[in-house]
Amino acid sequence: MNGPDDQGTPHPNPADREGPASGSDFRIRVNGVRILQSASGVSLLEALRAGGIFLPSACGGRGICGFCRCTIRSGAPENPTPSEIQRIKPEELSAGVRLACQIPVRRDLEIQISEALLEYRAFAAEVSELTSLTHDIKRIRLRLIQPKEIHFKAGQYVQIQSRPYPGMEESVWRSYSIASIPDDPGNLDLIIKRVPNGICTTWVHDHLKTRERVTLAGPIGDFFLREGKPEAVFVAGGSGMAPFASILGDMVAKGDRRNVTYFFGAVCRRDLYYLEEMNAFREKLPGFRFIPVVSQPEICDKWEGETGLVTVPLSEWLKSRGGTDGLEAYLCGSPGMIQACRMVLRDHGVAGNRVYFDSFS
Ligand SMILES: Cc1cc2nc3c(=O)[nH]c(=O)nc-3n(C[C@H](O)[C@H](O)[C@H](O)COP(=O)(O)OP(=O)(O)OC[C@H]3O[C@@H](n4cnc5c(N)ncnc54)[C@H](O)[C@@H]3O)c2cc1C
Ligand code: FES
Repeated sequence: MNGPDDQGTPHPNPADREGPASGSDFRIRVNGVRILQSASGVSLLEALRAGGIFLPSACGGRGICGFCRCTIRSGAPENPTPSEIQRIKPEELSAGVRLACQIPVRRDLEIQISEALLEYRAFAAEVSELTSLTHDIKRIRLRLIQPKEIHFKAGQYVQIQSRPYPGMEESVWRSYSIASIPDDPGNLDLIIKRVPNGICTTWVHDHLKTRERVTLAGPIGDFFLREGKPEAVFVAGGSGMAPFASILGDMVAKGDRRNVTYFFGAVCRRDLYYLEEMNAFREKLPGFRFIPVVSQPEICDKWEGETGLVTVPLSEWLKSRGGTDGLEAYLCGSPGMIQACRMVLRDHGVAGNRVYFDSFS
């Protein structure tokens, strides 16, 4: 939980008062070479976005995820915000590491970010298809317009910008895993689950239409299948299916024949989707097993498969193997599911450095 001080609006520090009045322009020098202009008072995260530099962000600038790190060489407010103190180690803070969403631009800044981040690009795209996969999950298919292609690793994600809609004047950026395959670089599938009162997902589910233009940026992330390992277990819930749909499609395309067991957790039968796609992967990937798991079978029609939380069959499967050497785990979904799976994996001897995850926090 995050306390009231932790909601992410940049906190003014005494040092901020030194800058010119609101509305003035400041310069942000990035990695010693790129120079951006910024209006006074916007967050550094926003100022970078406006200049075409997209730092990772999972909380929309609320200071919760800790993803939007950068190193500030000069011009930062002296005192870190409570969010920064919670999410950045003291020695990193001393070295200038800060959260860009927590830094209001009130003077010229000199910052350092990973060179790879400079390669993320903004894309204009058109919604070519909208499909309801379940009662609360939609797939958006996007055709890229400018640039026309995106080159990514299966498992990575993009950030998409919502548009204002009745009752919501704000436009926000949110992250979504790519569900389509790298071999089709002109089109992107995203699988988006409705979050009650969520700004972006309400836009997607209730307002977005086919042929509408959207802006996105990416690709981002280090959640992808590591090369050359003999066996993997995948675990997902809800829209956590997205990166695995991409990874499995890419395995087919690349002829990757490693053994994969995929546990997919759902509340009820009506929350299961992509079953035909999983059957098709089973035919093309001889070492692939898909195990849907339903947590509330009592409210399902005739469910005869695995039941319980996804950790239950995962734990039984790990126990039945008599060893986990050579096994890697890939997890995607809610923070709670990921945390529970990591503990089960650890209890069965799968070391943390063999567990990869994308948490939809
Ligand atoms: C790497 C990554 C990949 C992801 N991939 C996917 C994906 O493929 N599919 C998918 O469906 N999702 C994915 N997500 C989650 C996604 O990015 C969004 O977080 C999610 O869709 C909710 O966005 P929203 O704007 O609708 O909700 P938000 O408006 O962000 O609200 C989310 C919840 O937080 C609450 N909330 C709002 N404001 C605050 C506040 N100030 N403080 C505390 N709580 C607040 C809301 O009431 C709501 O319950 C991914 C996340 C990450 C980090
Ligand atoms: S902490 Fe999440 S975007 Fe800054």
